[in-house]
Amino acid sequence: MNFRGRDVVSIRDFTKEEILHILDVAEEMLPIAQGKKKSDLLHGYIMASLFFEPSTRTRLSFETAMKRLGGEVIGFAIPTTTSIQKGESLADTIRTAESYCDVIVMRHPMEGSARMAAEFAEVPIINGGDGAGHHPTQCLLDLFTIRKEKGSIEGNKIALLGDLKYGRTVHSLAYALALFKVDMVFIAPPELQMPKEVVEECKEMGVKIEMKNNLDELEDIDVLYVTRIQKERFPDPEEYKKVAGSYRVDLKLLEKAKDDLIIMHPLPRVDEIAPEVDRTKHAAYFRQTFNGVPVRMALLALVLGEIE
Ligand code: NCD
Repeated sequence: MNFRGRDVVSIRDFTKEEILHILDVAEEMLPIAQGKKKSDLLHGYIMASLFFEPSTRTRLSFETAMKRLGGEVIGFAIPTTTSIQKGESLADTIRTAESYCDVIVMRHPMEGSARMAAEFAEVPIINGGDGAGHHPTQCLLDLFTIRKEKGSIEGNKIALLGDLKYGRTVHSLAYALALFKVDMVFIAPPELQMPKEVVEECKEMGVKIEMKNNLDELEDIDVLYVTRIQKERFPDPEEYKKVAGSYRVDLKLLEKAKDDLIIMHPLPRVDEIAPEVDRTKHAAYFRQTFNGVPVRMALLALVLGEIE
């Protein structure tokens, strides 16, 4: 398996074997991610972190991953401080950044932007989210979390709840889970259900999919993956108002949940998980957040060719 020089634009560019390999490398990175072991694996490498959209976890965990492996980071988190403000194109921004670094991590509001960047850049492009499109690195850390918490990915019934229409994390995750043949339940208000093409494709891959509009009971769910409503992607604010606050995970709902149910969330949350849930054994979302570091370390080391 060779990852050197590869772009990470969509999870669909990776086979199941490749995904499992990335998760195994991430497992080896754990002591370094926790700061218990020092590493100079990426000493001498520079990562550019180009964030055209807000981010807390994706940017900080990528930067932490690079630094914990001895590498350096350049970049921006507020694009208005760059020449984009003067009208520079994405293509020229990418060409400029790549002449200063060895790998680019970018997040951009336009769907397809990461693919476009990968076409003109020589250095690997890692997609940290392109509009409502893909979020492959989040997907990898979600898979890593499921495997770590549940012992395996296969054999679980996994519910994706919330804004399945505009949420890029659930688009990537649904495709990836389909490779593992898990049972999936898509729970969303009708306006926010999973795009048809994702549903169809997952079904073609042989997974069982149930679609629901309400979060009435959790019965036999093993993993509940909650997402926020992607307010910023609604073309019409009135449409957002109609669905705002339409689902919430609270202690009452958990009364009927399986004892070993885990609740995940890519975060940020708004009001879809009550804060009291944080103290229950079900809450896995902060551990999930941490898992971004070892997984992104693995990806950086693999695409930079320092690990095979
Ligand atoms: C997600 C994103 O940016 O798509 N956040 C993240 O990367 N952890 C989810 C979201 O913004 O709702």
